[in-house]
Amino acid sequence: MLLNNKCGVIVGVANKRSIAWAIAESLSREGAKLGFTYQTERLLEKVKSLVEGTMPGSPLCECDVSNDDHVKKAIDELGQALGKIDFLVHSVAFANKDDLSNGFVNTSRDGFKLSMDVSAYSLISLARAAAPYMTEGGSIIAMTYLGSTRVVPGYNVMGVAKAALESSLRYLANELGAKNIRVNGISAGPINTLAARGLSHFTALLKYAAERSPFKRNTDPSEVGDTALFLASNLSRGITGEIIHVDTGLHMLAQ
Ligand SMILES: NC(=O)c1ccc[n+]([C@@H]2O[C@H](COP(=O)([O-])OP(=O)(O)OC[C@H]3O[C@@H](n4cnc5c(N)ncnc54)[C@H](O)[C@@H]3O)[C@@H](O)[C@H]2O)c1
Repeated sequence: MLLNNKCGVIVGVANKRSIAWAIAESLSREGAKLGFTYQTERLLEKVKSLVEGTMPGSPLCECDVSNDDHVKKAIDELGQALGKIDFLVHSVAFANKDDLSNGFVNTSRDGFKLSMDVSAYSLISLARAAAPYMTEGGSIIAMTYLGSTRVVPGYNVMGVAKAALESSLRYLANELGAKNIRVNGISAGPINTLAARGLSHFTALLKYAAERSPFKRNTDPSEVGDTALFLASNLSRGITGEIIHVDTGLHMLAQ
């Protein structure tokens, strides 16, 4: 039980296919007590029934990450319900469909701000709210994708937001290191989720990964979950500011 007596907050479960859910399953398997946020009232029933099925008694709280008051309130409520926060999982992203399909040069100003706000700034806001509850040190884990550093067709403004997210996690890692709080990212290969299906080229990305990656298959969400487990646990105590690729080896290919 790698996470006995450890508590943490999972941000980003929408349904059972969510990467955040795969992470929750790995962390819970190893003894962690979890609190969950859900984006809107509309998702409450789905998230609640998922959580009650396997992790009964876990506290839940609504949190739109683009609203600082929501973030502070949700983290305060979950931090108090759990007693402390040892880890925080950031698994949220959003971009307007138009900005993912109309060509990068046509990215709208509002769409750019929106995707930056939800997908990158939210990590800073959540880290600020959670740090006071990380009284025994902590681990913050953010989900990212290769489109941050490589041009991936159709990833467009999300690539820019992921670059900002990755840079933010390094600045946070530098500052929060003094409090023994580590901040790392997992760069996952394409996984069939609600958010991913909003990408115009997503089916092609899945196919490419299955055919060309060294493992000749797609990333399994449980592989991301178990890497998050490593990052949440004491086993990764010497690691911060790092991006770990869990993508069946895709990231190292020239094309
Ligand atoms: N699926 C992939 O192929 C893939 C690959 C690499 C990285 N990622 C990243 O993994 C993370 C999780 O995505 P997923 O693929 O599991 O999809 P998902 O749709 O299951 O999860 C996305 C989550 O973001 C939440 N969200 C969006 N806007 C929000 C807001 N304003 N406030 C609060 N929550 C909000 C949604 O409610 C949802 O729970 C994202 O950061 C995504 O970029 C996904």
